[in-house]
Amino acid sequence: MPYYSGDLIEEVISQNDIVEVVSEYVTLKKSGRNYMGLCPFHREKSPSFCVSMDKQIFKCFGCSEGGNVITFIMKIENIDFWEAVEMLAERANIDTTRYEVNNYYNKIESAKKDLKDTMYKLNRDVGLFYHNNLIELLKEEKNDVKDYIISRKLDIKTINKFGIGYSTGKESLYDYLVKQGYSDEEIMASDIILKSKTGRKYDRFFDRIMFPIFDIRDRTIAFGGRAFGEKVNNKTVPKYYNSQENEIYHKGKTLYLMNFAKRNKLENIIIVEGYMDAIALQKFGFNNAVASLGTALTENQARLIKKYTDDVIIGYDQDGAGQAATLRGLDILANHGLNVKVLKLDREDVKDPDEYLNKYGPERLKNCINNAISLVEFKISILEKDLNLDDFDSKVRFLTGVSNILSKIENNIERDLYIDKISKKYGMSPGPILKEVEKGLKTKKEDDIQIDMNALNKKMQLVTSVRKRQEQYIVALVLSKNKRVQEAILNNISSDDIDDENVKKIYGFILSLKDKYDINKIDILSKIQDEDMIKEITDIMYIDISGYEEKLLQDVLKNKKKEKLFTRRDDIIKRLNENISDDESQILNVELNQIIIELSKLK
Ligand code: UTP
Ligand code: MN
Repeated sequence: MPYYSGDLIEEVISQNDIVEVVSEYVTLKKSGRNYMGLCPFHREKSPSFCVSMDKQIFKCFGCSEGGNVITFIMKIENIDFWEAVEMLAERANIDTTRYEVNNYYNKIESAKKDLKDTMYKLNRDVGLFYHNNLIELLKEEKNDVKDYIISRKLDIKTINKFGIGYSTGKESLYDYLVKQGYSDEEIMASDIILKSKTGRKYDRFFDRIMFPIFDIRDRTIAFGGRAFGEKVNNKTVPKYYNSQENEIYHKGKTLYLMNFAKRNKLENIIIVEGYMDAIALQKFGFNNAVASLGTALTENQARLIKKYTDDVIIGYDQDGAGQAATLRGLDILANHGLNVKVLKLDREDVKDPDEYLNKYGPERLKNCINNAISLVEFKISILEKDLNLDDFDSKVRFLTGVSNILSKIENNIERDLYIDKISKKYGMSPGPILKEVEKGLKTKKEDDIQIDMNALNKKMQLVTSVRKRQEQYIVALVLSKNKRVQEAILNNISSDDIDDENVKKIYGFILSLKDKYDINKIDILSKIQDEDMIKEITDIMYIDISGYEEKLLQDVLKNKKKEKLFTRRDDIIKRLNENISDDESQILNVELNQIIIELSKLK
């Protein structure tokens, strides 16, 4: 078997949804956010085998087996790690030869890989060509391109940062690429140069403002070109041209400017529609802005986002967000465990965030962002917009629609809060809404296995000592999405503070990671091979601490302080019982007193 690069693992995990893979072996039924079934790794009558779609892991609460999709295949097929990777790669049609890191592969495959590398380089060169052309034009006193750039409020810093360009210059792009040493075959494969009927080779983006699209690793993989001037005003050409999908560019896997956004600590991500929206937001300091480029959001994009944050704000054009395809995209995000909010601009005279920023400034937009509404509220507001609530029929339809939306909410408390809020807002009594929602819930429950996750958790808690539980919290906190808490733990807790052997091993392993402060960006499960460690970490991943991070952090730090004081107290007492001088005894007694006071405060 050839050697593969680690990127293959990442690709295999992202392309094989664990729920789908496990379903090929085990009958799963949805239960809340999880899927449950009979564990294939031990004999049982009632299901305790749980697959989490959000976390892309499985865990048996009966026999404690757990892991990610690769671990699952290893165990169920009884094969080793790389065999499982290969099997899953084949299942997802991933070309593993691209990930080989030695010379086993044959000539054709290696040529394919070379072509891909060349494509990255060529795209970069094209981007530079466009960019330099724009820079040259901006040096002139006046021209159409410069006028347009100025009218869009694109300053030089922004132009440089995002590599913005203009397609054409004194020399044609084709000639330029030939001069750079690219073969005709390579140039034509890029799909940027097209051939006319007469054989002339021309730039498909000719006379457009060019936005290079980068992948997560900062490589230029595609372009968007915006028309300007008369042609676009008269609607004789499309406003934007975009690169076609190819070996290196997959629209549904890309989010424009994600490579920039991910450099920052991300509280949340703002997803907008257009190039200019993402650029304007980033320019004004919203460096968490990315663009979906006018297409509906995909599962791949949801997974990409989930690597960095759990919270998403959708900043689509006012008319755009309500469209069916978009709503489906938002549901995809929500189904991946992302908390989705929708931005509502508080002015009607602008259509997108770019226009809003240029007219009303960042402060005011920030305010709108802080007031973004939940996906549920958003869906209800759309429903309302489509109906005239004065007439009886519409009111019934509205109520039914609302109940339908609300019965999809898994959390009881959240659901009740919405019922309360909505009945108040629309002046309806909550009773009928509640009844309708319950009807919806009932039909849904019939497809669900009745699994009481609370009971399962209790079972887990019984076998786990309080002390161990607290140590598990330390790792859970590091794996939480709260950066501040992560850092506080990593900086204050060492693996010596942990007793339990497996938890200690895991925490020590995390501490040893080069990018431990970016732990969310690492798929930690695929870095661990030790069986006991995998069992332990999947246990920890199922501990739900969301909302309690700060409180648990305080507990952990307090416990650590307490322990230190206890140890010192015991040492002093031991020393006092030895034959020591009066002076030392006096000093130690003073310290002992202080410790006892501090300990009583910490209780
Ligand atoms: P919009 O029409 O909202 O344009 O399309 P925009 O982003 O606000 O662009 P400006 O501000 O007029 O320059 C949103 C996105 O949809 C895609 C582009 O990615 C665009 O940014 N789109 C739009 C196309 O691909 N082709 C088009 O013809 C139009
Ligand atoms: Mn716009």
